Amino acid sequence: MKISVCAPGKLMLLGEHAVVYGYPCIVTAVSSKIKVELENTLSSKIQIDAPQVKDVSFVEESIRIFKEKFKFKEDGLLIKTYSEFSSQYGFGSSSAVTVATLYGLSRLFNLNLTKKQIFDLGLKVTLNIQKVGSGFDIAAATFGKTLYFIRGGKKIEKLNIDELPLVVGYSGIKASTPKIVQQIKKRLKKEKKAIFKIFDSIGKIVEEGKKSLLEKNYQRLGKLMNENHTLLKKLGVSTKKLDQMCEASISAGAYGAKLSGAGGGDCMIALVPLSKKETVEKAIENVGGKILKVRNNVSGVGYEKNI
Ligand code: PMV
Repeated sequence: MKISVCAPGKLMLLGEHAVVYGYPCIVTAVSSKIKVELENTLSSKIQIDAPQVKDVSFVEESIRIFKEKFKFKEDGLLIKTYSEFSSQYGFGSSSAVTVATLYGLSRLFNLNLTKKQIFDLGLKVTLNIQKVGSGFDIAAATFGKTLYFIRGGKKIEKLNIDELPLVVGYSGIKASTPKIVQQIKKRLKKEKKAIFKIFDSIGKIVEEGKKSLLEKNYQRLGKLMNENHTLLKKLGVSTKKLDQMCEASISAGAYGAKLSGAGGGDCMIALVPLSKKETVEKAIENVGGKILKVRNNVSGVGYEKNI
C-alpha cells in the first residue's frame, strides 16, 4: 500500500517568544506544504528518502516514537519527503514533516489517531530533538487554520476567520530558532523583571489581537502587530533588515507589520488593505526582501488531495 499525505507550514501572527513562557500566541497555517509518501515494501528495512537532510532526523524520531507507543511490527517501509518550500524560510518544515510522517504512519497502520494524539506525539518528537519550543508549529501543521495557542497544547482554539490579507517577506537570512530562544533564556536570568514586563505586554497584545481578528478589524490588528514588533525589538531579536522591511511596508500603506517567528532573520509579515498589496510588495523588495506568495489559514494535515 502507498499513501501520500501533506502538512502545512506556519507563520506566527502574534506572540512569539512570550509563548515559550506560558503566554498565548496566534499562529496561521500556510499553503507551503510538506508532502510525505509512505509505502510498504518487500525489504525488511525502513528506508528514508528526504532531500532536506535536516528532515531525516525528524522522520526517524517520529518512527521511533510511533513504534515505542504502538509497538508495530514493521516489514519494509519506504518514506519519501517532498518540500514545497525551502527550510531556509522558517515556515516550519521540521514540524510539518514530523506531523505528516506521524499522520501517514497512523493511516498506514489503520490506527486513525485523533488530531490531538498526532499533536501530542509530534510535540514529543520536536522536544526530543530541539529541546525547546512551545509546539505552536506542530499545532499549525496538525490542525491547520488560524489558532489561538498556549504552550504544549494547553489551549488550541481554532479562530473562525477568513484568510488574512498578508504579505510575506523573506529577509534572506536563515535564523536558528533554538539559539535565539536560548539567548532569551540567558537574558531572563539577568533581567527577569524587564523581560517579563515585555512578555506581559505581548500577552495583552495577543488577547486584543484575537478580538480584532474575530471582528475583522484589520486597522486595529495592524497597530497591534506594530506594537508587537516594537516589543520584539526590545527583546533584541529583530534585525536591521527585518526592521527596514517592516518600516517600508508601513510607509507603503500596510495596516501594520512585524517579524514572524524567532527573529534574527527568516520572515516578516505585513497586514495590508488589498488595494495596497502590490505597493507594499514592491516596497519590501526595494529594501532587499523577497516576497513569498503563500496563502494563510489553510487546512491541517491530511491526505494529499484533501489539504
Ligand atoms: O522561528 P520560528 O518560526 O520557528 O518561531 C519560533 C517561535 C518561538 O516562540 C520563539 C519559539 C516557540 O517554539 O514558540
